[in-house]
Amino acid sequence: MTYDFAGKTAIVTGGGSGIGKAICEHLARDGAFVVVADLNMDHAEAVAKEIGGQAYKVDTAKPEQVEAMIDFAKEQGGALHYIVNNAGIGGPAEPVGEYPIDGWKQVIDVNLNGVFYGMRYGLPAIAAAGGGAIVNMASILGSVGFATASAYVAAKHAVVGMTKVAALEYAPQNIRVNAVGPGFIRTPLVEGALDADMLEMIAGKHASGRLGTADEVAALTCFLLSDGASFITGSYHLVDGGYTAQ
Ligand code: NAI
Repeated sequence: MTYDFAGKTAIVTGGGSGIGKAICEHLARDGAFVVVADLNMDHAEAVAKEIGGQAYKVDTAKPEQVEAMIDFAKEQGGALHYIVNNAGIGGPAEPVGEYPIDGWKQVIDVNLNGVFYGMRYGLPAIAAAGGGAIVNMASILGSVGFATASAYVAAKHAVVGMTKVAALEYAPQNIRVNAVGPGFIRTPLVEGALDADMLEMIAGKHASGRLGTADEVAALTCFLLSDGASFITGSYHLVDGGYTAQ
């Protein structure tokens, strides 16, 4: 599926790897000017070079850095139309009663506060351009639990709620805001956290019997950004191979 993003400027946070990288590739292929924003500048530069976009170093947990990222995209692209708030981390795997306090704060800072900062500074910029769209990367764990992942699950549920509020507030300014809920996707985040036996067990929890691909998440994300999704806002869209259907 291809869309017409010609003349549009997009920011993808966490664009240097996995799902974010695939979204950058799809957006650029369909004509957008893409700011590949990531903590890891080597990865961001490699993706930007591949797609003809612009790399930008950001820690999305730092509000002043997110504000500067939005200004950078406006300057480079002339206006800002799309943001994909995708940067995220897994965090420690411990039961709630033993969860490390530092780990909790770090996961909430990146996976929840970082998404808030992206919208806090990004929404006025998109409104100034006359409208556009935002996709916030949630997870299946934005609607169901997963033992040992309390911080991640809490952050992703909160992202779904915050997405709905922003959609209500900014529809009059022609900005649509949606959340995407991937099942387990084969990316460095998942492959770094789970061994082969765990991956096989988790694959079996999807009706499709496998993990998803970053391209499958990018396809849904780009549809939600596109004008084809003009009546879709404030909702949470699964791409999970049937994980949550059971
Ligand atoms: P990944 O680890 O492959 O890529 C994440 C990227 O975000 C990396 O390039 C990393 O450098 C960057 N990043 C991390 N912290 C950052 C920060 N503070 N500021 C800027 N950049 C930062 O991970 P993956 O799997 O592509 O995940 C992307 C998003 O999708 C995350 O929000 C994740 O929670 C979500 N997700 C992933 C799933 C999966 O199974 N892989 C399933 C559901 C959701």
